[in-house]
Amino acid sequence: MSLANELEGLIRTIPDYPKPGIMFRDVTTLLQNPTGIRKAVDGLAEAFSDIDYDLVAGIEARGFILGGALAYAQNRGFVTIRKKGKLPHVTLSQQYALEYGVDHVEIHADAVKPGQRVLLIDDLIATGGTAEAGMQLIRRLGGSVVGAGFVIDLPELGGARRLEGLGARVECLMR
Ligand code: PRP
Ligand code: ADE
Repeated sequence: MSLANELEGLIRTIPDYPKPGIMFRDVTTLLQNPTGIRKAVDGLAEAFSDIDYDLVAGIEARGFILGGALAYAQNRGFVTIRKKGKLPHVTLSQQYALEYGVDHVEIHADAVKPGQRVLLIDDLIATGGTAEAGMQLIRRLGGSVVGAGFVIDLPELGGARRLEGLGARVECLMR
């Protein structure tokens, strides 16, 4: 079985969450499976094995789990990109539109140094609004986003193409 098929079988779909009409792709079932989390993290590491990066940045909330495990496995530092009001020190903030609302993400102003190469990780890309905001934060600090990795792409929402249009290399383990 392909990696994509294996991972797909571990993802749960919740209809009408958090709003009517949204088919929510729930990765908690993948994460709680020991083979699932290992194959997802190893798959992301493999997808970017040909590029050099200094830091992994994870987007709250599930990007922390996958990105944190990847940073540990690859011996890189980990940067948190958080929802508004969660970071204690000086932050930069970026607004974005979701498939179902508007929000802000923030990063500590000293989290990325100019010239550092950053791999951005989240569980899923839909419209790409969240990941684009994360990319903008890293770039505003002078970092370069050398890649953006996701377990799931929802291709009909165009997020991966949107990030590629901004010059990012995008890798997704399944669509
Ligand atoms: C989900 C997912 C991504 C984002 C993708 O998080 O984990 O971060 O949506 O959507 P987009 O590509 O349209 O921006 P969610 O907003 O549900 O927040 P949560 O992690 O706090 O549950
Ligand atoms: N974020 C945006 N759209 C989503 C979906 N359909 N499932 C899970 N997370 C999402």
